[in-house]
Amino acid sequence: MKIVVTGYTGQLGFDVVRQGLKLGLDMVGIGSGELDIQNEAEVSYFINNIKPDAIIHCAAYTAVDKAEDDKEQCWNVNVAGTKNIAEAARSINAKLLYISTDYVLDGQGNSEFKEVDVPNPVGYYGLTKYEGEKIVKNIVDEWFVVRISWVFGVNGNNFVKTMLKLAETRNELNVVGDQVGSPTYTSDLATLLIDMIQSDKYGVYHASNEGFCTWAEFAQEVFRQANKEVKVNSITTEEYPTRAVRPKNSRMSKQKLLDSGFEPLPKWQDAVTRYIHEISEEVK
Ligand SMILES: NC(=O)c1ccc[n+]([C@@H]2O[C@H](COP(=O)([O-])OP(=O)(O)OC[C@H]3O[C@@H](n4cnc5c(N)ncnc54)[C@H](OP(=O)(O)O)[C@@H]3O)[C@@H](O)[C@H]2O)c1
Repeated sequence: MKIVVTGYTGQLGFDVVRQGLKLGLDMVGIGSGELDIQNEAEVSYFINNIKPDAIIHCAAYTAVDKAEDDKEQCWNVNVAGTKNIAEAARSINAKLLYISTDYVLDGQGNSEFKEVDVPNPVGYYGLTKYEGEKIVKNIVDEWFVVRISWVFGVNGNNFVKTMLKLAETRNELNVVGDQVGSPTYTSDLATLLIDMIQSDKYGVYHASNEGFCTWAEFAQEVFRQANKEVKVNSITTEEYPTRAVRPKNSRMSKQKLLDSGFEPLPKWQDAVTRYIHEISEEVK
């Protein structure tokens, strides 16, 4: 099977390509340097030239706060770019797996959002990712939409790396403790995505490591496992204002994964253990 992966130079795309290669699949990973997804003609030419059986679309404008002031660029990549990818996929009858986000949800209440619940994004980035979901569903016949959250992977910056960096100079930190969600280790998710793209179990999925936590609990676990003596003070969202509003409740039900016979991802604490090991191997 030949698979094009957008966002190869980012966290998730990198691991998706790595996992596919491990399984002997024909993987073509691309970053914006190889192909700017905003350019319709280039996307069409590129995809028609390679003729993959499937596209895993990980590329996105991911700067959540910056997006509030840079709406045009965010829209051009996440909406227009996704439309270009979807139309190219349709033109060669390729399957399309689109990566979306918990930020399409409004985060109200305390219960888990189901795959069938209607999104209601509270920030601009989330709005563009939801537009991307709708475009994929409307244009392509064989589509997957996979909503993920709180991503960490070896190839890029993320919350875990930031916490470990801060631990070098700080022994006390304030971290938001009233937003609840699930961390997602790209290496674990990549295994699932490669499994999924080889199936015909199309539809909307939620995928992240098992279990829920707050950002403060996430930080505490990282410090505990990395043997760092850092005191974490749990603060409220209001005490740590950001440009973009984020959903307070990012609990996503993963029932659809189970019902479709996919293997759930390991617990998030287990993912942190393996990730810390992976990045420590990297710097040796
Ligand atoms: N990070 C999170 O916490 C999180 C949470 C939920 C969902 N997601 C979703 O998960 C997916 C992967 O996220 P990530 O963390 O791996 O992202 P990332 O590390 O920020 O990487 C983004 C990727 O998109 C590419 N890209 C950006 N603009 C492009 C353009 N105009 N043309 C082609 N490629 C372009 C980048 O290429 P260059 O580097 O070459 O510019 C890079 O490879 C995204 O769809 C994101 O919305 C992420």
